Amino acid sequence: MKISPSILAADMLDLKSVLQAMDERVDFIHMDVMDGHFVPQLSFGERITELAGSHTKIPLDVHLMVSRPEMEAPKYYKLKPHNITFHIEATNFPVRLAREIRENGIRPGIALNPGTPVSRIEPIIDEIGFILIMSVEPGFYGQKFLELALGKIEQAKALIGSRDILLEGDGGIQEGNIARLAKAGLEICVAGAAVFSGPGTPSEQCERLKIAAGKT
Ligand code: DX5
Ligand code: ZN
Repeated sequence: MKISPSILAADMLDLKSVLQAMDERVDFIHMDVMDGHFVPQLSFGERITELAGSHTKIPLDVHLMVSRPEMEAPKYYKLKPHNITFHIEATNFPVRLAREIRENGIRPGIALNPGTPVSRIEPIIDEIGFILIMSVEPGFYGQKFLELALGKIEQAKALIGSRDILLEGDGGIQEGNIARLAKAGLEICVAGAAVFSGPGTPSEQCERLKIAAGKT
């Protein structure tokens, strides 16, 4: 299991020290970009993402919670994140955008809100390299895990089959539910509150989550 801490839950004004203190137990840095339109909240954009990237060698996992991601995604190409994930609910042009992201040497990802069925990605499965299943409604960290996500993870895993597509879950993931998620086929877990509001340092919390998942 790989862990992708969401810095939304960190002390954002101390982000430089937070990032510099992270070690190899942290697999990705999850960047939650919110536009105040696709979700009611505002977070940060490409400038903070670029600064974050300059203080760490850990790959960036960019999660665009924005309307019309085709207008926003290009701002992140030169930052060379590991993946750029956009919401299927937010665009009419997922194929064109996924291809453009891939042409820029970045893994294209599709995110699904809790109410969006996995079948929405079936027609475009061969265009993408990453699937993010939301297990809370996007907008805030620290929300309660929605059990309905579990079946969707299993469906997504089956749909992926032998394709080179990574499967990530996001929202309400913690030590108490991560083992079930690992069993359902999740490979990467985003964790906000579980990493930044736990008893240990962020790196220690990632380790605890991996142990709880049953594999490190
Ligand atoms: C929710 C964000 C998540 C969130 C995760 O809108 O996409 O990445 O910050 O935080 P936790 O793990 O606390 O739910
Ligand atoms: Zn996220």
